[in-house]
Amino acid sequence: MKKLEKMLLLLSLLAVIAVVARCDAAALRLHATHADAGRGLSTRELLHRMAARSKARSARLLSGRAASARVDPGSYTDGVPDTEYLVHMAIGTPPQPVQLILDTGSDLTWTQCAPCVSCFRQSLPRFNPSRSMTFSVLPCDLRICRDLTWSSCGEQSWGNGICVYAYAYADHSITTGHLDSDTFSFASADHAIGGASVPDLTFGCGLFNNGIFVSNETGIAGFSRGALSMPAQLKVDNFSYCFTAITGSEPSPVFLGVPPNLYSDAAGGGHGVVQSTALIRYHSSQLKAYYISLKGVTVGTTRLPIPESVFALKEDGTGGTIVDSGTGMTMLPEAVYNLVCDAFVAQTKLTVHNSTSSLSQLCFSVPPGAKPDVPALVLHFEGATLDLPRENYMFEIEETGGRRLTCLAINAGEDLSVIGNFQQQNMHVLYDLANDMLSFVPARCNEL
Ligand SMILES: *[C@@H]1O[C@H](CO)[C@@H](O)[C@H](O)[C@H]1NC(C)=O
Ligand SMILES: *[C@@H]1O[C@H](CO)[C@@H](O)[C@H](O)[C@H]1NC(C)=O
Ligand SMILES: *[C@@H]1O[C@H](CO)[C@@H](O)[C@H](O)[C@H]1NC(C)=O
Repeated sequence: MKKLEKMLLLLSLLAVIAVVARCDAAALRLHATHADAGRGLSTRELLHRMAARSKARSARLLSGRAASARVDPGSYTDGVPDTEYLVHMAIGTPPQPVQLILDTGSDLTWTQCAPCVSCFRQSLPRFNPSRSMTFSVLPCDLRICRDLTWSSCGEQSWGNGICVYAYAYADHSITTGHLDSDTFSFASADHAIGGASVPDLTFGCGLFNNGIFVSNETGIAGFSRGALSMPAQLKVDNFSYCFTAITGSEPSPVFLGVPPNLYSDAAGGGHGVVQSTALIRYHSSQLKAYYISLKGVTVGTTRLPIPESVFALKEDGTGGTIVDSGTGMTMLPEAVYNLVCDAFVAQTKLTVHNSTSSLSQLCFSVPPGAKPDVPALVLHFEGATLDLPRENYMFEIEETGGRRLTCLAINAGEDLSVIGNFQQQNMHVLYDLANDMLSFVPARCNEL
């Protein structure tokens, strides 16, 4: 071989190695859209819907908790979405798009499949396995099948040794179908599907799906712990999301793996520092959610007189605080919520808006043209202090006729405290599953 040829060969080999190394390190990027994005809703409607969803979800979460009495989820099915974010991806070869609820509270990923026995309405065509060249049905003797709470080999006549599953949620929603594997495709930088693809991911082909599914979803993407979850299957120790302003329409990035430039805003930008707190591992009596330790709340300059035991996770699985991808507004136990409201009223000169309409939030009337100060809101976690920017706890409402309100985007809940998405806007929320740490990293989510 001539010298030049040798050098070219060496160079191309090096290039291949470089590409492989980079792919290995790069995080997979997905994009999520808010369930209410693009519906042309007023800010008042957005707030009202978010509040109603948060209450309904918390009731549903609690109704499934082993140690608690059944809480009635209510009949909240009037076409208002049931969740906050949908992640977009595609399954199969060629790729068929799906949009799935981003759920940090469950591990199975599934989508409705053709031919359906009983399915809810969806706007995308149902995933059709017969149109995918890379699709395969999994046999029922696989560990991943046997480990499901409910699975079987089906009847001789129809199951034929395939993995038939049923997977139930806290709210008694259920999906039933067969467990399969296929190639998944994720977003490229311009948000279109067609970036990275990963072969042989396990998912449920839901043929009988029943429950409250009105968010324009085709199924659910599981991000909790568990062998079937997206992070576990993709073998990443970290995943993260970065929610853009919920009143806007920009998609929010979700990363499986460590995103590039994770700390760029935290280091140089002067937008605050990274705050980290431990993730508490759950046991069987708890929800399959990510628990953290909330210790207290400061409003303005006052640390509220709340005993830490109010937030603590009890032996029987009640109480505790979770960070959730599917709850809009932070929910605090009612006694705590009342203290927070009292402190806001005491520390602002604004007039309380006596609600005559749908809003149940604490709202203040805002004089025309003014952007008045409101007290600071700080959440104290074990090891982390979250000094929330105003946009992460006050919701501004423009009424027709120019009247303006500013409302506290926090709700009264049950004994379980839930850190909602509104409080997580415009920061990178990183789940480090290997080290059991949750970090809040300052970021501009629309620029990632
Ligand atoms: C439902 O999803 C489809 C497909 O992504 C989209 O075109 C449509 O705008 C969505 N509708 C609503 C109301 O979000
Ligand atoms: C991601 O996961 C690894 C564990 O494999 C951990 O050591 C690392 O610090 C995590 N976080 C980041 C930001 O890299
Ligand atoms: C608002 O309601 C409270 C009690 O609910 C009452 O004391 C107060 O006077 C009302 N304010 C206005 C402006 O109506």
